[in-house]
Amino acid sequence: MGICLGTSSKLAHVTSSQFNDSTSLATSGNLKKDSSKVELSASTSHLKIFTFNDLKNATRNFRSDSILGEGGFGYVFKGWIDEKTLTSAKPGTGTVVAVKKLKSEGFQGHREWLAEVNYLSQLHHENLVKLIGYCSESEHRLLVYEFMPKGCLENHLFKRRGQLLSWSTRIHIALDVARGLSFLHSLSCNVIYRDLKSSNILLDSDFNAKLSDFGLARDGPDGDKTHVSTIIIGTPGYAAPEYIALGRLTPKSDVYSFGVVLLELMSGKRALGDDSAGVAYDTLVEWARPFLSDNRRMMRIMDTRLGGQYSRKAALSLAALALQCLDLDDKSRPAMSEVLTTLEQLQTLNAQRMKPHARSRQAEKTGEEKYFPQKNKKKRVLSRLVGGALPASQTGVRLR
Ligand SMILES: Nc1ncnc2c1ncn2[C@@H]1O[C@H](COP(=O)(O)OP(=O)(O)OP(=O)(O)O)[C@@H](O)[C@H]1O
Ligand SMILES: [Mg+2]
Repeated sequence: MGICLGTSSKLAHVTSSQFNDSTSLATSGNLKKDSSKVELSASTSHLKIFTFNDLKNATRNFRSDSILGEGGFGYVFKGWIDEKTLTSAKPGTGTVVAVKKLKSEGFQGHREWLAEVNYLSQLHHENLVKLIGYCSESEHRLLVYEFMPKGCLENHLFKRRGQLLSWSTRIHIALDVARGLSFLHSLSCNVIYRDLKSSNILLDSDFNAKLSDFGLARDGPDGDKTHVSTIIIGTPGYAAPEYIALGRLTPKSDVYSFGVVLLELMSGKRALGDDSAGVAYDTLVEWARPFLSDNRRMMRIMDTRLGGQYSRKAALSLAALALQCLDLDDKSRPAMSEVLTTLEQLQTLNAQRMKPHARSRQAEKTGEEKYFPQKNKKKRVLSRLVGGALPASQTGVRLR
């Protein structure tokens, strides 16, 4: 038994309600309820509280060559801590961690930092990133996470130097994300994640995916309420239309964003305007929607770099699922648990039909295959002849 947060990280107060799901919580405690302040809940007590000096040492004084990435919150650094004492360790020894350092001292950033600590201290699941501890010393706000060696999905899908993700790995990632979201939605306070995007999906050394960044998460509607009304905050290209238009937030908002991530995995194209692949569009959804509902033209959205790694049937099933998730009517979208079931069936289909590609995830782990190995070239040409993906340059689609 524990607590659920009742806050938007952007709102001015928190409320508490009870979790029914005893397994999801590490400890229990009472959330401080105050009309003007958001505070750390007692359930954070199992987290390590780092001093600023500790984290300075762990990251070699926040050296620029320790930077793993940068987001709206600030820089993320690679650091080393002693696995037993959790104090800073000599670089290259002990456990590797990721240290996120709040850039601005603004109130907004602090709220997100608090929401992140409060949620991640209570929610434990193999598809959610693990928070090890935090630092809150004078104006400094930092978060210390388990290190995810393969970084974020965005880098793999869209950055040139990234290793090409095989079809089976993409399905595996979609499944992990669906598991993470299903878990959140299954809690009694049905937590809405609100910030699903490829840069918030982190990958471990085996390409298992975990959700990170709970700064925008909030509890879903309770009792008879159908939705929560909130100010609009999120990432363009991923946010659901009813949420953008009306501030109407439900777990189905996450389902929509999941549909966008599915499209990114299928097409290898960014959620927001990307003309690098020879196809111009404002949003990926706007560009892909007409293809998703047309079985004859659907294959045109597929990532041409995937060649013949998937069957037409599997691609069509995924397109149908994406279309359901992206339904303009939020009530018509499937629940995340249904999405998960469909993906599990698809993975079984994939495993049965795509046995020759069973090695590809293994190859990704070892970095053996980068982009297209020459030996697969013939197979790719053949797949196009039998109805595989057409290069984007041959689709003739331009929306602007
Ligand atoms: N636990 C981690 N392990 C390894 N790399 C990480 C970890 N957390 C973040 N990163 C890297 O740091 C980058 C920046 O992450 P961050 O969450 O701050 O920003 P973002 O997700 O790109 O944008 P936003 O601020 O909108 O969430 C990520 O894209 C990822 O490459
Ligand atoms: Mg992020």
